[in-house]
Amino acid sequence: MNDLLFPMHGKHVLITGATRGLGLRLAERLAEAGAVLLLHGRDPERLDAAADRIERERPGAEIHRFLADLSDLDQVAALAKSVADRAPRLDVLVNNAVVGGGSDTARREVSAQGHELRLAVNHLAPLLLARSLGRLLAASAPSRVVNVASLGQAPLDFDDVMLEREYEGVRAYCQSKLAMIMSTIDMAERFEPQGVSVNAIHPAHLMDTEIVRQSGFTPLAGVDEGAEPTLRLIGDPALQEVTGRYFEQSQPTKAHDQAYDPEARAQLAAVSERLIAPYAPGDG
Ligand SMILES: NC(=O)c1ccc[n+]([C@@H]2O[C@H](COP(=O)([O-])OP(=O)(O)OC[C@H]3O[C@@H](n4cnc5c(N)ncnc54)[C@H](OP(=O)(O)O)[C@@H]3O)[C@@H](O)[C@H]2O)c1
Repeated sequence: MNDLLFPMHGKHVLITGATRGLGLRLAERLAEAGAVLLLHGRDPERLDAAADRIERERPGAEIHRFLADLSDLDQVAALAKSVADRAPRLDVLVNNAVVGGGSDTARREVSAQGHELRLAVNHLAPLLLARSLGRLLAASAPSRVVNVASLGQAPLDFDDVMLEREYEGVRAYCQSKLAMIMSTIDMAERFEPQGVSVNAIHPAHLMDTEIVRQSGFTPLAGVDEGAEPTLRLIGDPALQEVTGRYFEQSQPTKAHDQAYDPEARAQLAAVSERLIAPYAPGDG
């Protein structure tokens, strides 16, 4: 039964990292509400398992499956192209996929392009995806980008953005999440004239999911605790005009100070644009 308090029937929603955790729960709830699901995963078996489960539990749900490893900007660009080719519209892009702090927090990992892995998956991939799907989002306006961030935020050191000198996994995660919030503010400005809102959210504290268990933290919340406020950002008509904000659950609030430093945002934008430019459409 659909218990969402707002209409999602027929809305096309792309959720990255929909194979488990928060992404899977959002997909289940949106399927109940009649949304058309564009489900993303990186592993074919896990993606099929998630999509098959939703189809079994919610007969009649319309689900389209998209495979891409977001640690490879070539695959991010291909994902955006595949969505634009196959979907007639896109009402909401939910950038949810994540690499957490990891079980060995001293082990620095890199993406296919050699970028620090957390920055690549948690910041560069969502940025490139939103930019590449900008036309489709604008054509579907009013539409939304929901960036699933975190209250775990750490300032970026622009002399060592890729953390080559002093690596620590949780710090890398927190920097990538602040980068995501900083780009949310810039992207909101860029997309506002086209009727596309862009907001970031900390869904809930220490939900019982893989990234939390893997990092050795004790879960303090169920996944539904994070799904509820995230679903509001995805669909609540009362939030349609709200853009460029960071929410802690349902509360619009202030992110780390660096997010509001225009110089820091310009520095981050310069680095990010340079890294995604070879993969981004010219008019995204
Ligand atoms: N859990 C919390 O307490 C908490 C707190 C604050 C914020 N958040 C945020 O909530 C969001 C969801 O997190 P979660 O806790 O639900 O995490 P999760 O259960 O670990 O799920 C992570 C998802 O991201 C996917 N993913 C990881 N690396 C990928 C890659 N390289 N390419 C494509 N997909 C990839 C995973 O795919 P596989 O299934 O293939 O691994 C999975 O679907 C994240 O943005 C996270 O930062 C969570």
